[in-house]
Amino acid sequence: MDGPAANAPYRAITVERCSPTIGAVIGNIDLTRPLSDLEIVEVKRAFTENLVIFFRDQKISFEDHVRLAEYFGPTGQHVGKKTHSQESTDPRVRKFHFDKDSKGISGNAWHTDQSCAPIPPLGSILYMHTIPPDGGGDTMFVSMYAAYDALSDRMKKYLEGMTALHDGVLIFGDGTPRASHPVVIRHPDSGRKGLFINGSAVRFLNGVSRTEGEGVARTLIEHCRRPEFQYRFRWEPHSIAFWDNRCCHHYAIADYFPHTRSGYRVQIEGIVPPVAA
Ligand code: SIN
Repeated sequence: MDGPAANAPYRAITVERCSPTIGAVIGNIDLTRPLSDLEIVEVKRAFTENLVIFFRDQKISFEDHVRLAEYFGPTGQHVGKKTHSQESTDPRVRKFHFDKDSKGISGNAWHTDQSCAPIPPLGSILYMHTIPPDGGGDTMFVSMYAAYDALSDRMKKYLEGMTALHDGVLIFGDGTPRASHPVVIRHPDSGRKGLFINGSAVRFLNGVSRTEGEGVARTLIEHCRRPEFQYRFRWEPHSIAFWDNRCCHHYAIADYFPHTRSGYRVQIEGIVPPVAA
């Protein structure tokens, strides 16, 4: 965000940054009741500025969860055919419950949610009520702005106008969509350029030889894993992580078997397809 608003103090909420590149904890807010107009404006600003925002000690219901999402847009549906997450009693809310009997866990690889959709989700709001002991089950986040900014000028030039196929079948099986998106996109709210290449769904870049497209895709995906671009979030019971799917990727760490990690996620529909920068 440019201009004076970027430096203006917050008046309703508190915003404590977690790292120089990504993440902030939002305080002085109660998500179990409707937010004031000023709170909504400030939460949106904090989301745009920090890519992923966290809330602590919020014992929210499905209605509270959906209300927070709907300040940003309509809730959306998962486009994957086979997923580790499950339906809940509310079609707008997915259950993220994993325990000793789980065959796998959702999100245990660097990714952005359902980039295989023609219009991928704007963001996701994950609420956890049950957390494994001993610090297990953290989630990692990476800034795709920082990853883009750190590329060489030569690589930035090379990537101009390039697209990549995001193949949902690789993750969620037959019947899941595939879509090509620009590799460098401009965020519709912040105006910043970011890399948009999903390590779980992209195997090559379009428009060049297969060898070249695979090699460059692998290099970019590896580049995004640098710790300098990342933040690791430690959950507590009744924490919330709300990430911007357009500029931030995440990774759910599967280190807590046979313990239980349990919560719910609401997804917000994207408004526009990723736009080339
Ligand atoms: C996800 O990929 O949406 C799950 C993230 C998590 O469980 O931490």
